[in-house]
Amino acid sequence: MSSRRYKRMQKKFPYYDSSLELEKRITLLLSKLRLKEKFALLSGRRLSYWKTTPIRRIGLPSLGMTDGPVGISFHSSFRKNTKFPASICLAATWDPSLSQKMGKAIAAEVRSVGRHVVLAPGINVDRTPLNGRTFEYLSEDPHLIKELAIPFVQAVQQQKIGACIKHYVANNQETNRHSVSVEIADRPLNEIYLRAFKEVIDEANPWVVMGAYNKVRGEYSCAHSHLLREKLIKEYDFSGLIISDWWATKKLDDPAKCLKAGLCLEMPRAYAYRMRFLKEAYKNNLISEEDVDFAIRRLLRIMFKVGLFDNPETIPKGQRNTESHQLLARKIAEQGIVLLKNENNLLPLDFNKLSSMAILGPNKDKKFGKFIYGGSAAVIPPYENTPLEALTYRFKGKIAIQNDPEQADVCLLFMGLNHDEGFDSEDADRKTLSLPQKQISLIKKVSKINPNTIVILINGSPLAMSDWLEKVPAILEAWYPAMEGGNAITNVLFGEINPSGKLPLTFPKTLADSPAHQSTKTFPGNDKVYYDEGIFVGYRYFDEKQLEPLFPFGYGLSYTSFSYNNFKIPRKTISEKSNINVTIDIKNTGRLAGSEIMQVYAGKVNSAVPRPPKELIGFRKIYLKSQKTKTINLKLPVQSLSYYDGKEHEWLIEKGKYTLFVGKSSREIIHEEEFTIK
Ligand code: GLC
Repeated sequence: MSSRRYKRMQKKFPYYDSSLELEKRITLLLSKLRLKEKFALLSGRRLSYWKTTPIRRIGLPSLGMTDGPVGISFHSSFRKNTKFPASICLAATWDPSLSQKMGKAIAAEVRSVGRHVVLAPGINVDRTPLNGRTFEYLSEDPHLIKELAIPFVQAVQQQKIGACIKHYVANNQETNRHSVSVEIADRPLNEIYLRAFKEVIDEANPWVVMGAYNKVRGEYSCAHSHLLREKLIKEYDFSGLIISDWWATKKLDDPAKCLKAGLCLEMPRAYAYRMRFLKEAYKNNLISEEDVDFAIRRLLRIMFKVGLFDNPETIPKGQRNTESHQLLARKIAEQGIVLLKNENNLLPLDFNKLSSMAILGPNKDKKFGKFIYGGSAAVIPPYENTPLEALTYRFKGKIAIQNDPEQADVCLLFMGLNHDEGFDSEDADRKTLSLPQKQISLIKKVSKINPNTIVILINGSPLAMSDWLEKVPAILEAWYPAMEGGNAITNVLFGEINPSGKLPLTFPKTLADSPAHQSTKTFPGNDKVYYDEGIFVGYRYFDEKQLEPLFPFGYGLSYTSFSYNNFKIPRKTISEKSNINVTIDIKNTGRLAGSEIMQVYAGKVNSAVPRPPKELIGFRKIYLKSQKTKTINLKLPVQSLSYYDGKEHEWLIEKGKYTLFVGKSSREIIHEEEFTIK
């Protein structure tokens, strides 16, 4: 809006006066709306997909939303924008400050395309490694999810752009996603699947929550009065806007049920909130004007918060496709790369010792930034450097680049998955945990010819590797590194960047080992899917069953090495309301600078209820120059030890003895200490 128009609006409508208190402005505007206009605001604007209905008569603008978790999608903005690495790559950085920077950058891009809400972050738990949207989510662990989502949401909203956490709740598979009912007990529902939503709402106050497609215990998430009214609105005290996923209400035609449940806005258009349904329900006293006002107040609250009624001069300026956003995309890709294997320190490659390298594999020059490629998270960037382009650009005329492994000093195999149907894509789960057979054959063939074969995986979800892992000396997990991915991978391969990423989810050896794959009932189910594993998701299950994963949660190597010393818990008896203070010295004992992610887990000794042997309660990523030591002090809230009691329906903290584990991964524990909660 122009300043001139703003001045005119200010004169005409009192709610444009930004000196008035927010709730006052909402009430003033609400009093101007006619009932029919309120009905129209309960669903998206006709033919727009991304906006609410403007009402010029009272100077009410339209609220604009846009995808997605890794940048502003082309299909929702009709523009090319910065494409950040897949969310799972951000998660593998274990770096909340990068998530904060990404949130700030994405918000600036949302503003620059004239929208006000970004439909991100996706904070669903990675329950099965086959989930088609694993690349869009963060982790199998609720603590890591919330530690990364909170700074993202805070950074987005500091730019007066709304963040929308999704998909509420238990949207953990794509198979039958529009109809499947998740059958789940109260304890895992709260302790695992609702947990990140609850903690992000507590700590970051997201302005929007998106209801999921699936049902929970037989009821659609978007019309679920227990999940929306009881949990989200009452128990979590959520005061923001509750929107449906796109077309998630297609099968709903009862406006009273949806309105009473708490659904405020149907997107992209009305099904339950069709005008004639609403008029009928109102006439028959099934809904009242205050039921409608409950929803409209929340929409107006967001509209005021994103600055739709404020002086345009006070609104943060937007910007997109800046060099700083592109460098941030590269940094996230670099920091998210996980070094899975590095026999005889084959990596980093020494540029001076190489005269030729073979670059092979289907992902060596694949471009991922295509229209709706992989689903709603798709972003089309202004450019995208592939590994082949980046390596050629960097070493042209210095290292011979060819495709014959026989002649080459090293052979770089760019393998992995993509967003084609049945791989990492929305609306379809993967069919298998393995690489495509063709890729396995290529790895076997090339590694036989050239012992210096390095596999670089470009994928967005766990892979089984048992039939080729032993044949190659080095493996990098690069996830979907996006527009600067080629440069990021090159920098890690040649040591400009020392890889520091760690797995945000377990890589199982086989699907049968995964907790979600104990039967077809537990995945993919048919009209119902049973979460029989309960709270034992990811490493919680592998630890409980003492199962050996291919690579454990929190695992990642480095070109240098780190020692952990002087681990102390100063006070061993701790009250419920305080913190667990942990101190430890981390030293870089190698010759290259690098970052280490130290992890802290806790486990109850002789717990009264079934509990995982250990659960992540804290972590810290630190950068150390060679031979440098840093003392880390962590203050870990005792609250993070709580579990959800399914009978009492409340969060409890058991008194008594716990073990604290400090380690480099969930399976490489360096120190243990006992402490007591009194
Ligand atoms: C999609 C997704 C959701 C996205 C929305 C708008 O189907 O489930 O994540 O934000 O619809 O594209």
